[in-house]
Order: sequence, then C-alpha cells, then structure tokens
Amino acid sequence: MTAPATRIAPSILAADFARLGEEVRNVVAAGADWIHFDVMDNHFVPNLSIGPAVCTALRPHTTAPIDVHLMVEPVDDIIPQFAKAGADIITFHPEATRHPDRSLALIRDHGCKAGLVFSPATSLDWMDYVMDKLDVVLVMSVNPGFGGQSFIPSALTKLAHARRRIDAWQQEGGQPIALEIDGGVKIDNIASIRAAGADTFVAGSAIFGHPDYAGIIAAMRAEILKAESLTT
Ligand code: DX5
Ligand code: ZN
Repeated sequence: MTAPATRIAPSILAADFARLGEEVRNVVAAGADWIHFDVMDNHFVPNLSIGPAVCTALRPHTTAPIDVHLMVEPVDDIIPQFAKAGADIITFHPEATRHPDRSLALIRDHGCKAGLVFSPATSLDWMDYVMDKLDVVLVMSVNPGFGGQSFIPSALTKLAHARRRIDAWQQEGGQPIALEIDGGVKIDNIASIRAAGADTFVAGSAIFGHPDYAGIIAAMRAEILKAESLTT
C-alpha cells in the first residue's frame, strides 16, 4: 500500500519578519510543501500580523502553495485581495463570517482552494452542508492568535472525527479534502497527530525556532512515516 500524501506547512509567523523572502526560500529548499501564512486582525484574535501586501511581496520568492489562514472578521472583503496577491489556499473561521457558504464560494470563484478552520471549541458540524465546497479542513490545536503555544490534546479526538467525515465523503465520490492541523506541532507529537488522521502539518516555532530547517523537516517526516507503519 502506498503511503498517502502528507505535507509540511511551515508557519512564517515564527520566521524572521525582517528577512521574510529569504526565510521562505530557505524553508522551501529545506523541504517545505506549503507556506502557511497567518493573518490576524486584533479583532477576531488578540494579535496583529501580516496582510495581502506581504503576500504579494512573497509570491515571487516561491512556487510552493501559499496557504492563507484568515483570523479576521469579517472575511469577505479580504478574500479577493488575497486571491489577487497570489494566495493558493484561503481558509477562515466559520464564526467570523455571517454566511460561511457564501465565503467558501467566494474563495473558489477567485480561483483559490477553500477551507474552514475549527478553533478548539468550534464544532465540526459547520462542515455538514458545505462538504462539496471544501478543499481543506483545518483543525486548530491551540486557540488562534499566537505561535509557540502548547498542543491541546483533545484536538486528536477532533482530528479523528474529521477524518471519518472526510473519508465517508470521499467514499461517496466526493472531492479530496486535506486535513490540516495547526498549533503546537513538534517532532515529538507529530506521529500521534498523523495517527489521528491529519495529512497536512503546520509548524511555526518548531521549524523557525531552530537553525537547521532541513533537519527538523526531515525528522518530522521520519516520525510521520513511523505513524504510517503503525496504521497501515
Ligand atoms: C496560531 C497560528 C499558527 C501558529 C503556529 O494562531 O494559526 O499557525 O503560527 O505556531 P506554532 O507551530 O509555534 O504553534
Ligand atoms: Zn495558522
């Protein structure tokens, strides 16, 4: 049986903001699959980060997909701006928009992949009637707003529940949906996260907090493979 596709998505929130282009090139050269781009508005979350202008500036530095995680409220006005800035994937928190179905459609209408993000206390039921509009489901294992927080263990149960919903959908002929985890992902917990069903792993401080990006990403992949040998 071939191993399913898994992806490492370093969060540039933990990178050196004074050298972002170089950081993106280095982490992609070190084996990153996606670039995770955290957008915070000091309203939906108590922190402020980067916006579409930074996405535009980074776009020429890599061909890797830019995975924009919106932690902003509302979301609809900013979606076309990120699409124009070169985002490949745009995800948002369903409670941050009046009409999540409309926001998902808006993302796809602008040529990007779309996804919902589930904060630790947010129910997966938001997925129920929009499965056909999802390319990504992002389960948060910390409360959104800051890098460097500890992994919340109940995210493993939630991942397993999301995995079941996605597998059932695909068995009925539905489109592929990536299952992404975000928050507190480290070398020493990534195997259990993989075993719970994630296929896409965001990691900020674990990667950018160490000088050897390639070494960390390789160690993460080795741990993911260990989990696969246990579950397949
Ligand atoms: C938190 C962000 C995360 C964060 C992850 O709100 O969505 O992407 O950067 O950082 P670490 O890996 O340090 O927990
Ligand atoms: Zn994120």
